[in-house]
Amino acid sequence: MESLFSAMIALLLFSFSCFTSSALAINSGNITIKWDLMTWTPDGYVAVVTAYNYQRQRSIRSPGWKMSWRWTRKEIIWSIIGSKTTEQGDCSMFKGNIPRSCVRKPTVVDLLPGTPYNQQIANCCKGGVLKPGLESAFQITVGLAGTSNKTARMPANFMFTAPKQQYICGPAKNVRPTKFLTADKRRVTTAMMTWNINCVYHKAT
Ligand SMILES: *[C@@H]1O[C@H](CO)[C@@H](O)[C@H](O)[C@H]1NC(C)=O
Ligand SMILES: *[C@@H]1O[C@H](CO)[C@@H](O)[C@H](O)[C@H]1NC(C)=O
Repeated sequence: MESLFSAMIALLLFSFSCFTSSALAINSGNITIKWDLMTWTPDGYVAVVTAYNYQRQRSIRSPGWKMSWRWTRKEIIWSIIGSKTTEQGDCSMFKGNIPRSCVRKPTVVDLLPGTPYNQQIANCCKGGVLKPGLESAFQITVGLAGTSNKTARMPANFMFTAPKQQYICGPAKNVRPTKFLTADKRRVTTAMMTWNINCVYHKAT
C-alpha cells in the first residue's frame, strides 16, 4: 500500500515537472528588434531594422509579422527596402520628392519571396515568416530626424504582431553599436548607433 502510494507520488511529481519544463520552454525567449543607424543623411539617417526570433519553439507563420511604432518628432520615411509601409498618409506638405510614408504611427510588413533583387536586402522578403533562430530585416531611410547621435530620437510605442499571437514590446534602449562584417568578410563596420526593443509573447489571439 505504502509503495503504491509513493509510486503515485513519484508519477505525479514526474508529470508535474514535465509539464512545468515544457511550459517554461514554450514561454522562454523573445523577439528582439534591433534598429541600427548605419549612416547619417542631410536630414536624417539610414537604418537597418532587424527582428530576431529568439523563441525556441514559436514560429511566426504566414501572412507574417507586422511592426509599428510612433515617431516622437516629425519624422517621415523617404524610402524603405525589403519591406513596405501599409499607409502613405498625408504627404501634401512635400513638393518634388514625396516620402513613402508621412504617418505618425507607421506599420511595416515584409515583402514576398520573389521580390526583385534591387528591392531586397539580406534577410528580407520571407512574407513575414520568421522561424525560431532566424531574423528578418529591412532598410529604412528616415527624414526630418536628427542627423547626429545627439539629436536622433528613438521611435516609441513599438508593436510587433504575428498571426494569432500577441506580443508586448518594451521601450527602445540605446545599446552598444552593432559591428557588421562586410559582404566580403574582410572588413568590420560599426553602426553609428544601435537601439534595441524587446518583445515578449503575451498570449494567443
Ligand atoms: C532575448 O533573448 C536573447 C537570446 O536568448 C537574450 O540574449 C536576451 O537577453 C533576451 N532579452 C531579454 C530582455 O530578455
Ligand atoms: C556619439 O558619438 C560619439 C563619438 O563617436 C560617442 O563618443 C558618443 O558616446 C556617442 N553618443 C551616443 C549617445 O551614442
